[in-house]
Amino acid sequence: MTIDDLEAVYEIECASFPQTSWNIESFLRELTANQFSYYFVIEKEDSIVGYCGMWLVIDQSQITTIAVSSREQGQGYGRQLMQHAKSYAEKSADILSLEVSVDNEKAMKLYEKEGFLYGGIRKDYYGPGKDAHVMWVKLNE
Ligand SMILES: CC(C)(COP(=O)(O)OP(=O)(O)OC[C@H]1O[C@@H](n2cnc3c(N)ncnc32)[C@H](O)[C@@H]1OP(=O)(O)O)[C@@H](O)C(=O)NCCC(=O)NCCS
Repeated sequence: MTIDDLEAVYEIECASFPQTSWNIESFLRELTANQFSYYFVIEKEDSIVGYCGMWLVIDQSQITTIAVSSREQGQGYGRQLMQHAKSYAEKSADILSLEVSVDNEKAMKLYEKEGFLYGGIRKDYYGPGKDAHVMWVKLNE
């Protein structure tokens, strides 16, 4: 992901997370001021159709965001993004983890298929009454 990608990324972000979307400045900070972050996009015919971000701190890595444009979902882009994240993280990390809303069936299915296990619940993670599952996968196995 580069600064030039941010307008397209932000459009997908707002459509994907209407209640909790990050603003452009948050993405910009991740790209320019966070030495632990790694963000990437997936393109189809020169248009961005999805993106994913992660933090990689020594041997721990964490997905911060992943989304595919609603028009392009169900075609394997989410899977490709996650597989790229895992292969990048496994260069130095042993574990990749993430949080997912307990009612986000689609995302949980994707994570299960990519080997993620359920590690517990974070109460009110997305606001009052909006819990998250913590999921994690062991890398390099
Ligand atoms: C979650 C998300 C990234 C998946 O991206 P995608 O490109 O649609 O996913 P893929 O086409 O690669 O599908 C991967 C797996 O996800 C699951 N999946 C995808 N669409 C699904 C649907 N409509 N219903 C149930 N499971 C679904 C399936 O297990 C699928 O594997 P399969 O094709 O072998 O059955 C996408 O739905 C999205 O952007 N959602 C909104 C943002 C979001 O919720 N992000 C996650 C925050 S934690």
